[in-house]
Amino acid sequence: MTVEAWDAHAAQRLAQDPPKPLAPPVRMEWTQRPGIGPGTEVLGGSLCGRRIVELGCGPGRNTAHLAGLGARVTGIDSSRGQIRRAAAHYGHTGAEFVRSTASAYLNGERERLDAIVSIFGAIGLTEPFKLLVACSRRLSRNGMLAFSVPHPQRTGTIPASPRTRDQLTLPDGTPTVVERWDIGSASWVQAINRAGLLVTGVQDLFAPVDARWPTTLLITTRMP
Ligand SMILES: C[S@@+](CC[C@H](N)C(=O)[O-])C[C@H]1O[C@@H](n2cnc3c(N)ncnc32)[C@H](O)[C@@H]1O
Repeated sequence: MTVEAWDAHAAQRLAQDPPKPLAPPVRMEWTQRPGIGPGTEVLGGSLCGRRIVELGCGPGRNTAHLAGLGARVTGIDSSRGQIRRAAAHYGHTGAEFVRSTASAYLNGERERLDAIVSIFGAIGLTEPFKLLVACSRRLSRNGMLAFSVPHPQRTGTIPASPRTRDQLTLPDGTPTVVERWDIGSASWVQAINRAGLLVTGVQDLFAPVDARWPTTLLITTRMP
């Protein structure tokens, strides 16, 4: 899905749900269904005062949740429309929302980060290795990177190629395509280790819980 398609997605959602401040969600969601799998505990203890960035924040729900816990958090998204939507709904929480590609933001700033998260966001939607290296350069010692991606086995088969195209429908019914790096956990672990991070957890999540195949791959890592 191109930046223009994400912009169109955000504009259509804003038309359905006009810009007004919303309460931050009560839980961090790593899957696309509420209430499944872990929440912020995968990021360690108290997040109060910790410096966190979400890559590909979309409408900003998880960024807002982290801000509500007292984290100093920035949501990054390459779509101006998504950032406008996130700021309209959750700017009041203290979260900062910045329009940028994930790699431009990570490579353009120097401040050390305590955690980086991506939930069906930039990680998996852009070439993984360079982005993982950019993450490891910005994380502080023991800093964490945690991300969720659509599970490569979600249809019951493993993709023949690491680049796949999912058919999606915009809110107004217009069909669009999302291109992603659909790689298995062994390849993620290899790329993460090469980027200088240690894998601390790999979870296959089922959302809904009775799904036949795992729908979400959640990977947690930390800097040595
Ligand atoms: C499925 S949405 C994210 C949902 C959001 N993380 C959540 O939890 O609700 C994917 C988002 O990633 C953004 N995105 C895709 N590639 C990106 C990149 N390279 N840098 C920054 N944002 C990106 C898109 O604009 C889109 O808003």
